[in-house]
Amino acid sequence: MVTVSVIKADTGGYVGHSAVHPDSIKIAEERLAKAQQDGLLLDFHVGKVGDDLALILTHNGGVDQEEIHRLAWETFEATTALAKKLKLYGAGQDLLSDAFSGNIKGMGPGIAEFTIEERKSEPILIFLADKTEPGAWNLPLFKMFADPFNTPGLVIDPSMHDGFDFEVLDLIEHRKARFSTPEEMYDLLLFIGAPDRYVIKNVYRKGGNESVAVTSTQRLNLMAGRYVGKDDPVLIVRCQSGLPAVGEALEPFGFPHLVAGWMRGSHFGPLMPVSFNEDTPSRFDGPPRVVCYGFQLCNGKLVGPRDMFADPSFQTAREQAMQIADYMRRMGPFEPHRLPLDAMEYTTMPQVMERIKDRFEPVE
Ligand code: 13P
Ligand code: 13P
Ligand code: MG
Ligand code: MG
Repeated sequence: MVTVSVIKADTGGYVGHSAVHPDSIKIAEERLAKAQQDGLLLDFHVGKVGDDLALILTHNGGVDQEEIHRLAWETFEATTALAKKLKLYGAGQDLLSDAFSGNIKGMGPGIAEFTIEERKSEPILIFLADKTEPGAWNLPLFKMFADPFNTPGLVIDPSMHDGFDFEVLDLIEHRKARFSTPEEMYDLLLFIGAPDRYVIKNVYRKGGNESVAVTSTQRLNLMAGRYVGKDDPVLIVRCQSGLPAVGEALEPFGFPHLVAGWMRGSHFGPLMPVSFNEDTPSRFDGPPRVVCYGFQLCNGKLVGPRDMFADPSFQTAREQAMQIADYMRRMGPFEPHRLPLDAMEYTTMPQVMERIKDRFEPVE
């Protein structure tokens, strides 16, 4: 068994919210290399998207392993120290606590992890998004694992034909439910069509507990009770042999669907699939974007990464995203470019509303 943990945090932006400082990556690589020498890690890769640093780790510790979570936390503390020294923007933005308390969940950083029996060949895709929230994965995950127009394997591969199970979290009421597709597809869509509240946490093989896709699902603003940037979620997907082919897992991103995030975490915009060298959002702090790190797992080693969106066949999606960005931007401060009022609660907008609340008087 091998555990794959992807733990991400924004510990300071360079410049503004646009990128990770190169020295932050060096610091993280040094820390993780030391942990690998000490035998804690089987392997690691430091990934990034926009201003978010993602620690991609393999180990034998299982999920919720204190030493692994501590390693990530201390690595983020070290990159925060650099961010403070350089006065990078929002130094330590995602670290909501002063001290580590045994598990990184609920402390600010995003985490997706699972323990798997490594197959004869184990291709995995790690998607990292910036300027958006965990519900951004709902639509692509549905397409990968439940939509036969996206994934012909659901129709023609006997080992996929029964479908998959989805575990959905309710981020407001802290509940979860499991839906089996294809038979409960419409029930599933009822909830995941509201991605600000219901998010897919796991996809399982039908009727089992073997996770084949897992997302990070924390809502930073709900935890902090104030605006601290968007969650900028991660997603791990296993591929091939009874699971979506790599190309079937990438295919949903050929359509730049609208997600919440972008400027000040307060605007809808298209999720643009980009290569590693285009992963730094700048126009209106965006548009929101996603990169994909592809690996072949080999006895816990991460063979890779391959830059999966560095393919001209995603160029149309990028161009479409830029056209949608132009279109949405022309709405300025109007909904539905700007998020609806209830979603603006965790921004600075309520403070402005408070100032002018006496302006309104009753009407008979
Ligand atoms: P190959 O024939 O290149 O192995 O591809 C098989 C496949 O499943 C492609 O999606
Ligand atoms: P991040 O969530 O990526 O830090 O972005 C926050 C923001 O306010 C962008 O305008
Ligand atoms: Mg930031
Ligand atoms: Mg970010």
